[in-house]
Amino acid sequence: MKSIGFIGLGYVGLTSAICFSFKGYTCYGYDIDKEKIKKLKDGILPIYEKDLDKYFIQVYDKSFIPTDNLKELIENSKLIFITVGTPSREDGSINLQYVEEACKNIGECLKEIKNDYKVIIIKSTVIPGTTENLALPIIEKFGIKLGKDFGLVVNPEFLREGNAVYDTLNPDRIIIGYKEEKDGNILEEFYKEIYKENIPPILKTNFVNAELIKYANNAFLATKISFINMIANLCQTLKGADVEEIAKGIGLDKRIGKEFLKAGLGYGGSCFPKDLEALLSFAKKLNVELPLLEATIKINNNQYYKAIEMAKIELKNLKGRTISILGLSFKANTDDIRNAVSIKIVNELLKEGANIKVYDPKAMENFKKLFNDKNIYFAKNVEDCLESSECAIIVTEWEEFKRIKPETFLKLMKYPLVIDGRRIYQPNEFKDKLIFKAIGYNN
Ligand code: UDX
Repeated sequence: MKSIGFIGLGYVGLTSAICFSFKGYTCYGYDIDKEKIKKLKDGILPIYEKDLDKYFIQVYDKSFIPTDNLKELIENSKLIFITVGTPSREDGSINLQYVEEACKNIGECLKEIKNDYKVIIIKSTVIPGTTENLALPIIEKFGIKLGKDFGLVVNPEFLREGNAVYDTLNPDRIIIGYKEEKDGNILEEFYKEIYKENIPPILKTNFVNAELIKYANNAFLATKISFINMIANLCQTLKGADVEEIAKGIGLDKRIGKEFLKAGLGYGGSCFPKDLEALLSFAKKLNVELPLLEATIKINNNQYYKAIEMAKIELKNLKGRTISILGLSFKANTDDIRNAVSIKIVNELLKEGANIKVYDPKAMENFKKLFNDKNIYFAKNVEDCLESSECAIIVTEWEEFKRIKPETFLKLMKYPLVIDGRRIYQPNEFKDKLIFKAIGYNN
């Protein structure tokens, strides 16, 4: 079994397809976005993701086959991964339209194919019950039977943007939800072949557990972030307190662990905000309350405002003041601005009447598509962004920003107010040289 297919070439589908092509499989990749397929065929990656280009070069025009012909993909693939998006509806609930379409297209195609057992793998994040109650009936409607004509498994993805290649090649664990044992075994064998001696723990369970593991995982991580942000906000009011010290102290407790305790302006991205809302909305329909998640979301929704508050305390009125935003992507090493904190901050500053200068090493183009306001200046580099500024807010933890010295801020800015929204600077290095504020830090 050397040919596999990916339906949906977002971060998950594209990275997996390229990495597994690199591992020796022929990987077909399909997307409804024809422009994206064209770019890939021309050797252009449609997204920025750390190291992806290095792997892409090696598989381009060889084992990775982008195609706009879904039938070709299905016919040629033994494993068919569904990696389409599952966006939010207006009310926060999950929109499964793309998963439905993919299942329909697969079913339609599979009914024509005899004696070729293919396994469909739902990798997209889907609300518990989706595989059993939606995907399976849609496919079986075409007169084909699970276990006899095709296989079906749930296999959630945990890769982080910005680390997508590394995470795909070195996962912590693999979750496989199955109904027919042989389907679970087929996928397990595939992963054993991919990871060989580096195979991580594999948990085999049923559909619904596999689906819920993904949501519980993201909900827990988001809760950890909101927890430390809550403590950061308390630190802010205590003379001498620093949330970084608190995180270090509690992180040494093995039961807590040091990961995901970085206080800042809140989480963003394509997963946490969407998945938490979807889980909450799903639970509401079942009349189940998830108060911890509600608190996590509430803390996060307010967290970005801490930067504005700090600027206001120092500058009073922000109208007409020049404010630099360093970092637009929702985290470092990606050009993704979906649910990025930068959007909330810029919108707020526009409301306040500030003059805004923005800079990001990778996300400028995406941000430009969203904002076309005369009060926003798109800077060429860090220096250009800081020039004549009265307040610099660090919104994304890019390496490039970590290297900026206090002297550089001092030299370029009109008023040297630096707000470290991601805790990338050592307060001791900054606090005596300029006006330094940081999340969870009170000197
Ligand atoms: C997340 C999950 O980590 C991943 O397993 C899942 O598959 C998809 O969602 P991702 O959104 O790519 O991945 O990035 P992640 O590194 O988890 O960061 C999410 C957000 O949390 C970012 O905005 C980041 O800045 C913020 N964050 C993360 C913190 O504010 N503090 C932390 O300690 C960690």
